[in-house]
Amino acid sequence: MNEKLLSLKDEIVSKLDQTNDLIDLDKIRVAYLGKKGSITALLKGMKDLSNEERKNFGAEVNQLKAQAAQLIEEKLADLKQKEIQREISSMPQFDITSPANLERGSYHPITLVQRECENIFRTMGFSIEDYPEIVTDYECFEALNIPKHHPARDMQDTYYLDNGQLLKSHTSAAQNAILKKYSKNLIENDTPIKAIFPGRCFRNEATDACHENTFFQMEGVMVDKDISISNLIYFMKTMLSEVFKKDIKVRLRPGFFPFVEPGFELDISCLICGGEGCPSCKHSGWLELCPCGMIHPNVLREGGIDPEKYTGFAFGLGLTRLAMMKYGIKDIRDLNSGSLKALSQFTDDE
Ligand code: PHE
Repeated sequence: MNEKLLSLKDEIVSKLDQTNDLIDLDKIRVAYLGKKGSITALLKGMKDLSNEERKNFGAEVNQLKAQAAQLIEEKLADLKQKEIQREISSMPQFDITSPANLERGSYHPITLVQRECENIFRTMGFSIEDYPEIVTDYECFEALNIPKHHPARDMQDTYYLDNGQLLKSHTSAAQNAILKKYSKNLIENDTPIKAIFPGRCFRNEATDACHENTFFQMEGVMVDKDISISNLIYFMKTMLSEVFKKDIKVRLRPGFFPFVEPGFELDISCLICGGEGCPSCKHSGWLELCPCGMIHPNVLREGGIDPEKYTGFAFGLGLTRLAMMKYGIKDIRDLNSGSLKALSQFTDDE
């Protein structure tokens, strides 16, 4: 190969050595092998040579062209490979051959109790409803027969938002929407309304071992013709006996809630002493668990249901309290503590 061609080849090799990216590489390709590239120009310039010269020089230029093309090709493969390596090393590393982390997560005790209650009520034909945590004054109070400025509002020290909405202080806030949702089916198809709606509630409580500003309830309603307190007692007794896996005695005491009439506090026989009386039940033999009652005619009417034709019950089961009783949790603050040590010890029996 003649001197000129050899130095051109050296030039290409050194340029390729200095190139580290695909854009520069393409510039080199264009500079030598493109239409106006220097090797292409050499081939074009051959027309001025004699036949003999053209034969030798042509063979050499073609050889150089092939070598240059191959060098560029190799560099291209090399750069692509490096690019892939760079991508791989910037990805999070994990070793698929390392043994799996066998430490399993666990459900929160309230989730466990909630799911258990949901399953029990589902088998008794109740639907499970979801409801927002931020609601209106109408949903939380007015639709529940608690007008503005009614003293019954004092029972629930409520968090109000700047826009007039509030953090729901009880799951009863969903009652009106549920009644409206199913009233057509009740009236037209004689299908009883049977729904439960678990949810997180908020009240401005001074916290101690028994009080939290954030807690869980599970509301339930049933509306049909001829529903009475005995239906309420039956469902509550069945549900609680299933949750505690033993026959639970219940009793009703009068209780005031503006959205039920009559209203009750449902107590269960103390799980620790079986009703004999012990420090846990303050020696009464009973534990207060679930406020409930027959839905007030005004609440039914507000939900689009004629109280002359239909009756129903509602209950507001304290899920947080139920979880504490079931798992023997003494301090309510543990439940919102986020402490995995405290919360991961309760497992799903299934
Ligand atoms: N919402 C009431 C409370 O949290 C409880 C309740 C529910 C009472 C349903 C009666 C009927 O205080």
